[in-house]
Amino acid sequence: MDHLPVAVFLAIESSCDETAVAILRGEPGEITEVLASEVASQIEEHREHGGVVPEVASRSHSLCLNELVEKALTTAGIGMGTVDVFGATMGPGLASSLLVGSTAAKAMSCVSGKPFVGVNHMEGHLLSPFMDKTKVPPHVGLIVSGGHTLLMQVRRAGDYVRLGTTRDDAAGEAFDKVGKMLGLPYPGGPEIEKAAQNGNPEKFAFPRSMMQGGELDFSFSGLKTAVLYTLQKNRDAKTEDVAASFQAAVVDVLVEKTMRAAKLARTDIVGLSGGVSMNKAVRDALSRRCAKEGLELAVAEPDACTDNAAMIAFAGLLRFFAGISDPLDGDIDPNLKL
Ligand code: KG4
Ligand code: ZN
Repeated sequence: MDHLPVAVFLAIESSCDETAVAILRGEPGEITEVLASEVASQIEEHREHGGVVPEVASRSHSLCLNELVEKALTTAGIGMGTVDVFGATMGPGLASSLLVGSTAAKAMSCVSGKPFVGVNHMEGHLLSPFMDKTKVPPHVGLIVSGGHTLLMQVRRAGDYVRLGTTRDDAAGEAFDKVGKMLGLPYPGGPEIEKAAQNGNPEKFAFPRSMMQGGELDFSFSGLKTAVLYTLQKNRDAKTEDVAASFQAAVVDVLVEKTMRAAKLARTDIVGLSGGVSMNKAVRDALSRRCAKEGLELAVAEPDACTDNAAMIAFAGLLRFFAGISDPLDGDIDPNLKL
């Protein structure tokens, strides 16, 4: 593939409640350069509802997308004619939200006659810790986002084996639901992290589920229920203590299973990505344990942890360099698997 020239890739991400546009320039085997990465968050619009309202999300995507594309082109200092490939997230996510971004990217591709590449949102997260590297190395990637908890063996970009997933709630979802129980604003993840800083992580012995044997799947619904019962039984439990004890339980499970997966895959590199990887307790605990086990930890940059289009452009660019492009009549898939 080394004969392929430099390519400028414009990607749109609109799978949930962030509208994002990014422009990346890359060369096969060379470091990709992020020329622009714009994100318009809808968190404020959804906060009053305590969670994402799909119709509000899709309308908001369609209202701000044009402006965001213009902004990205201005930041990158290029015109639309310089873009060689257009791409968008095709799933997983909210159907009506995915449709807005993918239809816009396909329209730009159609009008310009340039190729279109559809991207799996989870592949974007998975590869995001390696965006500044020349190559995605074989590794085990832990993706902890609002909708997914995945342990993936990456043999190389595009070649993945799923080692573990959640049987019920995703890690981020558990943070958000426990945040709601504690009366914290949406999204609960960052709020729980803040509260936990002043709490005792050993105050409540919350369950660490599915830790037996070599189990690599996750389950967080028992933990969520345990928090609920604790709050019902201890009316004056301190929010900070509940937050810290809950966070400690999530961290223990994530770290332990990632170590098991790394051992199983016989790799010495671990990747960490997704919105929950913003959490310092998660990053620090995994970093300490990796150091102890002689593993290298690659973590996505903070602005690449939560939803963004740079990670979509990066995954899309690697697909494009692998000779892949997609038809304009391809459908989105809200349940797209990795
Ligand atoms: O990856 P992401 O932006 O969107 C999805 O693809 O789902 O992840 C969003 C999730 C939310 O559940 C949010 O509460 C969580 O990431 N999150 C955090 C933190 N920052 C975001 N969870 C724990 N601690 C944080 N600091
Ligand atoms: Zn995401």
